[in-house]
This record gives sequence, structure tokens and C-alpha cells, in this order.
Amino acid sequence: MNSERSSSGNQSCVRVQLGDRSYDIQISSGEVGRFIDLILEAIPDLSHALLISDEAVESPWADQLKAAFEQKAVTVRVSDTSVRSGEGSKSIEEFNRLLQWILTEGGDRKSVVVAVGGGVIGDLAGYVAASFARGVRFVQVPTTLLAMVDSSVGGKTGINLPTAKNMVGAFWQPSLVLIDSDVLSTLPDRSYLSGLAEVVKYGVIDDADFFVWLEANALHLVNRQSDAVRYAIEKSCESKARVVGEDERETSGRRAILNYGHTFAHAIEATCGYGKLLHGEAVSIGMEMAARLAQRLGLVSDDLLQRQTRLLVECRLPVVLPEADPDQMLPVMMRDKKVEHGKLRFILPSQIGAVDLVGDVEKDFVREVILETR
Ligand code: GLY
Repeated sequence: MNSERSSSGNQSCVRVQLGDRSYDIQISSGEVGRFIDLILEAIPDLSHALLISDEAVESPWADQLKAAFEQKAVTVRVSDTSVRSGEGSKSIEEFNRLLQWILTEGGDRKSVVVAVGGGVIGDLAGYVAASFARGVRFVQVPTTLLAMVDSSVGGKTGINLPTAKNMVGAFWQPSLVLIDSDVLSTLPDRSYLSGLAEVVKYGVIDDADFFVWLEANALHLVNRQSDAVRYAIEKSCESKARVVGEDERETSGRRAILNYGHTFAHAIEATCGYGKLLHGEAVSIGMEMAARLAQRLGLVSDDLLQRQTRLLVECRLPVVLPEADPDQMLPVMMRDKKVEHGKLRFILPSQIGAVDLVGDVEKDFVREVILETR
């Protein structure tokens, strides 16, 4: 058992079980005002907080958190800075700027980094926390659905090199993850919906009952109905916590299941231009290609593909990509970390709620499913 869940009222807690690096994911709605108390409960000796937030996550959320910290000014010193939105901020230059900033602010090994924003902020601030003084504690406050259900949990932190995404980084677990689903009310539709792709992913790879729940509740999720959104975040975090608890550093292969659809998605993002599709949209099309490939290899019935397609469409996610070009995508896929001895390997479903790592996949099959998904 590598995750635990407890709940009361509009709050629940998922525990990531990692021995002395275990931590809670607190999920609530309308509780940003209480975050400061939860942080102080988890980190009682907090004396210096370093808030790093996305400049776009302005008020009310980041400001509310800042104000709450300032009320504790007698016991906690607060420094804050913001980072420009977008993948471009996951750079060596911004990493360097933040380390220098912590130094100027008088940070030391007792300082705690608090990352407020989406995946870019969490990855960047987490890597800064992992590196400053050989590692300081950090708290994740994700503000996008994608960050809430994926990147804020599990301790993957890092930055990009100019030609290689996420090439430099560290596994550095947060001390606490604080999620308030109300924060999503101000998220643009496209960003919110793209996060649903990762939510659907957990149903396919790990939790068949959750998949059935998603089929019945897709419309509530699309309409951001509060209870449904909170439940979907909880179930997603439970799956993520379970997988991370079993394979923290991606050594046994278990954690790789989280990359379902991602081999295709990364190739789509690289060849169709970053910025044209959001990550979750590319993952949705990637899951579609992966399920088609599983069907083509005789691993699943037509029913799985049909149910997954229907659910993704109900979540208003794209399931085809007219410009998908196998001649461009395949060379990118050959650089995937799962390639072994020049053979493509994929995370593919065996049934709803279970996936396997499938090796030695013929390039021709891959080419065909890309063409079928146009
Ligand atoms: N997002 C994949 C992982 O955390 O392993």
C-alpha cells in the first residue's frame, strides 16, 4: 500500500508513502486562506518562506497566500518573486537568477521554497529547492489542473536545455502539496480541459472504477462542477501517489506507466510546434494513437478504443490530428527513453485500468496508427 486517503467535508488528504520522504497532498475547495496553517503544521520550524509564483497567477490566489504569510510576519520572514509564464522560463538563466535571488534574500538551509503556479513553476522552483545549499524543503501549490493531477506530485523537478526538454533535473520530493480546486475557476477553458487528458489517463492505466465514474460524470467535469472536480483530482492523485510510492525513481519500470500516450504526444509536440497544442491535448491524441496500436497488435478489443475515444471527446479533447506526419514523428520517437536496441517500446493498455510495457513494436504498425489518427 503506497498511498492512503482520508476525507472529511470538502477536504481530503492523499498520503504519498516514501519512508522518511513521505508527504501529504491536501485537497480542498475554498481553503486557500488556511494554506498557511497547513504549511506550518507540516513544517513547524518554518522561519523563512521563499514564494516563487507564476506572474499570471496573480491575485487573488498568490496574493491571498502572500497576505496570509505576511500576517505571520512575526514568526515567518517572507521573500517573494514571480516568474514569466511559459516553458521558456525553465531555463538555465532563470534557474541561475532564482538561486542568486535566494542568496540575496539571505536564504539558508532552513528556508522553504513555496512554488505557486502550473507545471513550469513547480518544475523550476522544485529544482531550485533541490539545488540551493544542496537541497532545501519545498511546498507545491499547483494552480492548473495538469499540475494538480500530475507534475506537482512525485518529485520530478528540472529545467530544459535549448534542444532538450527536461534534460537537467533531480528527484526532489516536496514536503507538502496543497490543492484548492476553486483556483481552477479562473483557468482558461482550453488549459482546464487539457488537464482532463491526464485525469482520463489514470482511469485507463490504473483504475477501472474511476474510468466508469468518468464516463458517467464527464459533463460535470467539463462544467467544472465543484464536487466532481475535487473527486477527480483526489482519484488522480491517489493513482499517482500509488505509482510513485512503488517506483519513486523510475527504476523498476512501474512509474513509466504514467507515460501512457506520451511517446506519441512528445513526438506530436516536437513536430507540430510547441505552443500549437497544449500538452494535455497532445496527450489526448497520443492516448488515442496508443489505444489504436494496442488494438492493431491484438492486445485489446475494439470496445476499449471506443470507450476511451468517447470519453476524451466528451471531455472536449482532440482525438485526431490532421497534420500528423509519421515521417517526422518516427525519428523523434526513436529518441524516446523507452527505445531499446533500436526497437520502439510503448505503454499500452491490456484492459481498462491496466497497461503493460510492450517491446519490439514494428515501425510499420506505428506508421499506420499515426495515419489512421489524422
Ligand atoms: N509525469 C510523469 C511522472 O511523474 O513520472
